[in-house]
Amino acid sequence: MTRLLILIVILATAATALAQDITSLEKIGPVTSLTKTTNSITITCNDASQVQLTILAPDLVRVRASFTKPIPTKDHSWAINKTDWPTPRWNLTETPNQITLTTDELEVVIHRSPLLIDFRDARTHQLLNADEQPMSYDAKGLLANIMFDPEAGMFVAASKKLGFDEHFYGLGEKAARLDKRRSAFSNWNSDTPGYSEGKDPIYQTIPFYIGLQHGIAYGIFFDNSFRSYFNFGQSSQQRAWFGAEGGELNYYFFYGPSIKKILGRYADLTGHMPLPPLWALGNQQSRWSYYPDTMVEEVVSEYRKRDLPLDVVYLDIDYMNGYRVFTFNKERFPDPKALTDKLARQGVKVVTIVDPGIKHPQDKNERYHAFDQGLEKNFFQHRRNGDLFVPRVWPGESVFVDYTLPEARQWWGDLHRVYTDNGIAGIWNDMNEPSDFVDQTGKNQLDVVSYDEGEKTTHAKNRNTFALLMARGTYEGLERLRPDRRPYVITRAAYAGIQRYATMWTGDTNSTWDSLALNIPMFTSLGLSGEPFVGSDVGGFIGRGNGELLVRSYQISFLAPFCRNHKQIDGYDQEPWRFGKYYEDIIRKYLKLRYALLPYLYTTLEEAHRSGVPLFRPLLLNYQDDPSTYNLDDQFMVGDDLLVAPILKPDVTRRLVYLPEGSWYDYWTDKKYTGGTMINVDAPLDVVPMFVRAGAMISVGPSLNYVGERTQEPITFNIYPNEKGEATGTLYEDDGLSPAYKSGAFRRTKLNVRRASRGFVVSVGAAEGAYNPGARKFNFAVKSSPRISVTGMTLDNGPHEIQLR
Ligand code: GLC
Repeated sequence: MTRLLILIVILATAATALAQDITSLEKIGPVTSLTKTTNSITITCNDASQVQLTILAPDLVRVRASFTKPIPTKDHSWAINKTDWPTPRWNLTETPNQITLTTDELEVVIHRSPLLIDFRDARTHQLLNADEQPMSYDAKGLLANIMFDPEAGMFVAASKKLGFDEHFYGLGEKAARLDKRRSAFSNWNSDTPGYSEGKDPIYQTIPFYIGLQHGIAYGIFFDNSFRSYFNFGQSSQQRAWFGAEGGELNYYFFYGPSIKKILGRYADLTGHMPLPPLWALGNQQSRWSYYPDTMVEEVVSEYRKRDLPLDVVYLDIDYMNGYRVFTFNKERFPDPKALTDKLARQGVKVVTIVDPGIKHPQDKNERYHAFDQGLEKNFFQHRRNGDLFVPRVWPGESVFVDYTLPEARQWWGDLHRVYTDNGIAGIWNDMNEPSDFVDQTGKNQLDVVSYDEGEKTTHAKNRNTFALLMARGTYEGLERLRPDRRPYVITRAAYAGIQRYATMWTGDTNSTWDSLALNIPMFTSLGLSGEPFVGSDVGGFIGRGNGELLVRSYQISFLAPFCRNHKQIDGYDQEPWRFGKYYEDIIRKYLKLRYALLPYLYTTLEEAHRSGVPLFRPLLLNYQDDPSTYNLDDQFMVGDDLLVAPILKPDVTRRLVYLPEGSWYDYWTDKKYTGGTMINVDAPLDVVPMFVRAGAMISVGPSLNYVGERTQEPITFNIYPNEKGEATGTLYEDDGLSPAYKSGAFRRTKLNVRRASRGFVVSVGAAEGAYNPGARKFNFAVKSSPRISVTGMTLDNGPHEIQLR
């Protein structure tokens, strides 16, 4: 017993040691020599280690360290989208103590002995981020006892000085609050149903964070797919460090000073989110599981009967024949094409779940095309000893595809023809951590080898990128199968770069208020991690909710990019009407408002695609200089202009709302407030406090039952003038369906409003882009006095002015 206790104490101390102390690791040696190329320097150290710094852009520098050996020539990452950076202007200076690289924006100072790297602003020389100790590695195997797979690699880490007032954001999907200061996290994609705040890790790995101090931001992307750790001063006021159980110490340093600029660069590096089809912004309904087909039809007809807008319905795992992906259950869904056609006539699309587990036949005479072809082509994962890897998932014994093989990804993508031929509009990738019922920790997968560009690496390296490559195979398959349509893929697990292929949702949440309160920090943090298209199961996935919780949940999700009500198979029903008319009426109001706001939402989503700045934002993204926003995570903004302060607790009908500097209009009453302070507002169940920034124009379309029901006409520009009587707005339009926007087939209209001697004048800028939406009518409504409303205007004739009198 005592021995057991001692062992537990030792293990616990070791685990905490990992989370808290990396000072005992071996440090990289001092600089001995230096070589230079057109865009990089390589430093050799007295312990034969090498460090390479590459200037990719004036605000982006890559740091690669190789301990006690040269930098490997092989350099590949599944996350990186852009490698051909034009070399920016930079120079190198050397003194006996320092090597300095300078770009137009950054000054990187490398102290020779000990080797410490400082990042400074090139103009002000202000320190942005500095090594607290030389880059380190676990040469003696100190951490081997707690490494997931001690044979897979050596622990590597970088430690940075922690600022007294430094805040940390991003890190992808964490069941945690917005500001990650004083917390520690690990990354190991994990199936964690019913997670609550503090559960770590959960489904995704996005090893990218943003540091903010005194209003100045930098970013660090630690591109290492091994199990990784981030400690933002959890128990040490000295350091913030990151490390991984193998692979290279390989990170990218981004300089802002604005967070928006960092997000743009991060998107350049790891890929910009393509635009999903516009219907993806529509309302979506799911449940594990709607079957048979008549049940799906019933759900849709209930939506239509009750005048609730709906664009998408989901088929969860029970649509398949014995959970065999790429098949339909013949009894439950005898004619999938007839079903999708019928629903299409009501404006509803169908998305099917596709899990990675391919059922392993129990009888060798049983034929299943996905298994047979994959086996024949040798596309499945194997253990190191050559055995087929057979995890257990929904179908029972299954196999996984080695998605690192390009031909396997292609084959996987092509298998989706059965869906596209049957009119399925999008694909839902789940269980792709990958989940294995034999053992959720991943231990059962330790010796699974992936091709990995010929490197034949094991699970320790490939687990966290499995979902990224599965989503890639899916997305690229849909692109090939339906080249005239934008693919729509949604995923649960991910690695950095996932935004190129998939949207995401936050997995198996609880139908509880605590779970609901995590929505805002999780959505905003994902947005700060390059994943703009996010959402959560509206109402929560596990357990029994109630009308009040469901309403408050919609009052967040009606403005999230992904708005889907979804429920566990044995959870209490949760469609909008299930708790009675009182709640249903309120939910209808918010779903209709979502559809009315589609022009604004889509314009903001396109901005996210182009600039990397998410639609669903923490206030700090728009008000980076305002410390009152730094840990504010019970409010959010949509774009630059809409501020929302939902209720996150039961029986609460009033709350404090922080309004940043400037003036604000109450969305419901148009009442004006002066910001820079907290206000106390009423929030009865049918009201979510919502404010519009003075100086904004919010484009609002007509009420729709689904996207594309008819032209979005008329669009009304609601004008909220600022103190000077000015407002600006943008409207983005395209065909909403095809990839033609990528080659310029869009229309962007910019509008400026100014006060005139009588009324207001709207200047409409020259339309940008080649898309012609045809003649449409627009209305204008000024929301301050003099309240003016003008209807039936045309915007399509190039730059012109409209008098609002
Ligand atoms: C997982 C998913 C959930 C889905 C279920 C059955 O738990 O996260 O959304 O309904 O599997 O497929």
